[in-house]
Amino acid sequence: MKKLIVLAIALMFMLSLAYAGDFSYVGVKRCRGCQKGERKGNVYETWLSKKHAKAFENIKAKGEEKNEKCLACHTTGFNNGGYKIGDANNVNYEGVQCESCHGPGSVYKKISLMKNREEALKNGLVDIKEETCTGCHDGSEHAGGKFNYQEALKQIDHTYTKK
Ligand code: HEC
Ligand code: HEC
Ligand code: HEC
Repeated sequence: MKKLIVLAIALMFMLSLAYAGDFSYVGVKRCRGCQKGERKGNVYETWLSKKHAKAFENIKAKGEEKNEKCLACHTTGFNNGGYKIGDANNVNYEGVQCESCHGPGSVYKKISLMKNREEALKNGLVDIKEETCTGCHDGSEHAGGKFNYQEALKQIDHTYTKK
């Protein structure tokens, strides 16, 4: 009987983990720790060289860094666990960072999950598709008009393991 109770509690705990779904954003500085340098395909450096990394600076230059309408697409996880007006952690979520596309990394950042895509996908990692982008690249004139996913992917490419 005791064993059964222990088992039941363990099962409930596991289920609560599986259904929690509350993964949080850790910010690019945390991703950078493992994804920087030549050995890691210069993933971080490549991102840094593109416009996503400058998205916050660009709204700031226009004096619009407090405008919610701009923050939604020019920051990471806006009002959804990342950037939030008045929050002390905001510096960690400026611009369109890794987690804007790859999903909030609080759990899948663990090395064991990083090495196991299937498990990572259950723990916050996003299987990137066109819809990952079109929340921001919404076809509006401001967002550059009609979004060409394949072309856009080439422009932001930072894959290195399959080349
Ligand atoms: C959170 C919103 C957001 C998401 C998600 C997003 N983007 Fe962007 N993207 C932007 C913004 C904002 C800019 C322009 C930044 C600037 O210039 O200030 C941009 C710029 C770009 C550019 C121009 C890059 C350059 O350096 O010239 C490309 C290409 C692009 N995005 C592709 C993508 C693709 C592909 C995806 C999905 C896999 C994606 N984006 C997801 C907001 C987003
Ligand atoms: C629906 C998402 C979205 C919203 C909302 C949004 N932007 Fe953007 N913004 C983008 C995308 C996507 C691009 C890149 C367009 C392109 O590639 O041509 C962009 C580009 C820019 C750029 C151009 C940077 C450059 O390369 O010259 C500036 C500046 C900018 N946005 C400022 C703003 C401001 C200010 C607001 C609020 C008034 C705002 N954006 C709201 C998605 C958005
Ligand atoms: C605009 C969306 C976007 C942003 C921002 C972004 N990535 Fe990616 N990333 C992708 C896409 C698309 C792929 C290729 C398809 C896939 O692996 O899902 C990819 C692939 C990768 C890979 C796999 C590389 C390989 O060769 O297997 C790593 C690692 C990675 N990204 C890390 C990062 C890190 C770290 C950052 C931030 C410094 C970042 N990404 C920012 C969209 C993005």
